[in-house]
Amino acid sequence: MARGAAIDRWNRALVTGASSGIGEAFARLLAAQSTDLVVVARDEARLATLAAELEQGHGVAVEVLVADLADRSTLRTVADRLQSTTSPIDLLINNAGFGFSGDFIDLDPDLETSVVDVNVSAMHRLAHAAGTAMSARQRGGIINVSSVAGFGPSPKAATYAATKAFVTSFSEALHMELGPLGVVVTCLCPGLTRTEFQQRANASTDAAPATLWQSADTVAEVGLRGLAAGKAVVVPGAHNKVFRVALKVSPSGLVRRAADAMARANGR
Ligand SMILES: NC(=O)c1ccc[n+]([C@@H]2O[C@H](COP(=O)([O-])OP(=O)(O)OC[C@H]3O[C@@H](n4cnc5c(N)ncnc54)[C@H](OP(=O)(O)O)[C@@H]3O)[C@@H](O)[C@H]2O)c1
Repeated sequence: MARGAAIDRWNRALVTGASSGIGEAFARLLAAQSTDLVVVARDEARLATLAAELEQGHGVAVEVLVADLADRSTLRTVADRLQSTTSPIDLLINNAGFGFSGDFIDLDPDLETSVVDVNVSAMHRLAHAAGTAMSARQRGGIINVSSVAGFGPSPKAATYAATKAFVTSFSEALHMELGPLGVVVTCLCPGLTRTEFQQRANASTDAAPATLWQSADTVAEVGLRGLAAGKAVVVPGAHNKVFRVALKVSPSGLVRRAADAMARANGR
């Protein structure tokens, strides 16, 4: 398959972070398109409820794989599932992620390290597992969920933004490497999305106007469309696209100061 060739029908997708938010929205959209699923997260009860609902509603097969992606041994189980030749997976949604809001030196260092473990190390390891298996079959897709936060430094969310900068840079390079091998890699960079993310991050979003928010369904839909179109980077929402361009053309010192002022205005 040539670089960028469109695939819009997936046989079986593995979705990390499928127990809520954007990952759950991906799982629902894919099931509605008759794609079998492997749903991954820590919350077994939520995954089981989702699996039963999608199997009944859409007649798809849904495997539940309970895993803490910050834990190397359970991460290996997920990587092994991606490489299995029994019921092979042709789409990986590398979505699980989280972050914490606050001054770096005041945050729990173990929790900050677990942000890197999940957002970077697990995403990276699973992309390797999927990339090798899919390129051997010359067919596949990978969506890595990044964030607009990765477009520049983010005081008071320093670790989270840095992990997402890694995801975006890594995904763009992988898009070029794997495209000629038949595997489309798309980096999805959402902005503010209504999920459990902000609550888990302990982030105040009171200052953010309603127009800046998108639904998890919209974000997942834009991600799947971008993948089908063979895009390297997809930014859902006109306001997020403008934000990306503004950061690109602005001097880095100005970007740093503006990001700092915004964090303070939001009371972080
Ligand atoms: N919401 C936003 O405004 C926004 C904006 C830009 C980017 N994003 C990105 O979108 C992705 C999805 O986040 P969301 O907004 O949908 O947040 P969410 O509703 O909090 O969902 C996060 C998902 O990640 C899973 N997860 C967290 N830690 C995990 C771990 N150690 N092992 C396995 N699974 C883990 C959670 O499942 P369990 O707790 O069951 O393990 C949950 O399913 C993340 O990568 C996030 O950075 C979100």
